[in-house]
Amino acid sequence: MSVVALVPAAGRGERLGLGVPKAFVDIDGRPLLCHAVDRLKNAGVDVVYVAVGSGEIARAEQALASFGASVRVVIGGANRVASVNAALEAALLEVAPEVVLVHDAARAFVPIPVIEAVIAAVRSGSQSVFPALEVVDTIRVIDSLGHAQGVVDRDTLRIVQTPQGFSPDVLQLAHARAIAMDTTATDDVGLVEAIGISATMVPGDRAAFKVTTAADLADARALFTPENPNMQPRVGTGTDVHPIEIGRECHLAGLYFPEVDGCQGHSDGDVAAHALCDALLSAAGLGDLGAVFGTDRPEFAGASGATLLTEVVRLVDEAGYTIANAAVQIIANTPRLSARREEAQRVLSEVIGAPVSVAGTTTDGLGLTGRGEGRAATATALLLKRS
Ligand code: CTP
Ligand code: MG
Repeated sequence: MSVVALVPAAGRGERLGLGVPKAFVDIDGRPLLCHAVDRLKNAGVDVVYVAVGSGEIARAEQALASFGASVRVVIGGANRVASVNAALEAALLEVAPEVVLVHDAARAFVPIPVIEAVIAAVRSGSQSVFPALEVVDTIRVIDSLGHAQGVVDRDTLRIVQTPQGFSPDVLQLAHARAIAMDTTATDDVGLVEAIGISATMVPGDRAAFKVTTAADLADARALFTPENPNMQPRVGTGTDVHPIEIGRECHLAGLYFPEVDGCQGHSDGDVAAHALCDALLSAAGLGDLGAVFGTDRPEFAGASGATLLTEVVRLVDEAGYTIANAAVQIIANTPRLSARREEAQRVLSEVIGAPVSVAGTTTDGLGLTGRGEGRAATATALLLKRS
């Protein structure tokens, strides 16, 4: 008994005015549409049908490829009703869902519990469901000349969001009527109301705002910056030690030091990069270097520390984390780090896309690093979980 979501994404985004359809506007490295689909899939939706403009099929398929066969792309229509209808027809040809959701691509950041609540309400017998917010502002009616005509009782008003949820037969009937009568509407609950079926409300959420204007886009992009106070911090640590090998090139903290011998190790022996990898993996709860680059990933055998770090950054991002910052301390007698410390910080910061502090110390002649037998590094990383 499946849940299908129809995602109208064929609008032109004229109010945003970027000259690209809104669904393809980049937010944190991914099109807006991908964020919307991601949330639906994470809320347990089985199959998603996305309706895009006729010239955008290839672009949408490419953007959504990582979701696999459970996300399909169809050609949308001239208005929202036509786009939803195109997705609905494609869905009903292929699956017999228990619940159908209709969700604006532009409401890409709806919290997962809102989606779950809509699905649950349909499952428990409501034929038409919408998330809603109370109106907090005073709403005043104006005439065509802009003259104030009195206040509407705001207790009788609700702000309507998506996803809206339906029994498939009810949505199908409502759409058949809307298409036959050439009705346009900005939501589907309205079309269902027109066939005499009233809707049930569940609590909406401000985070389900519709990206419409440039200010909305700025709000959406701000969700992914470390300044977003709703992001959950996660700290992690990592350590690495390698013996020094005479005649080997010394790669350390992403730099090459020609004046000293390098470290052994299956990669370039960059203890600082490896410690940073482990700190990032640890903060994201993804295990450690051995677990991630084990024998089942031979393409990384012998890879440089910077290459490993780049892949770790990708994994951490895929797991839903933004890197706030990282720090690494190198424990070694050589090379002299102070002259190139800032250069190392620049290189490593560039690789991870967040500030990296690099420091150096010795162990005062004690232990394997003090005797010059090896080099060690410890690192800390702070990640922020995107909601
Ligand atoms: N939509 C659609 N097909 C259309 C028009 C709109 O699928 N012919 C979708 C939009 O892509 C969006 C949702 O319906 O996900 C809500 O529409 P809106 O916010 O108005 O988006 P746009 O139409 O893209 O924006 P604008 O009105 O500013 O051009
Ligand atoms: Mg529109």
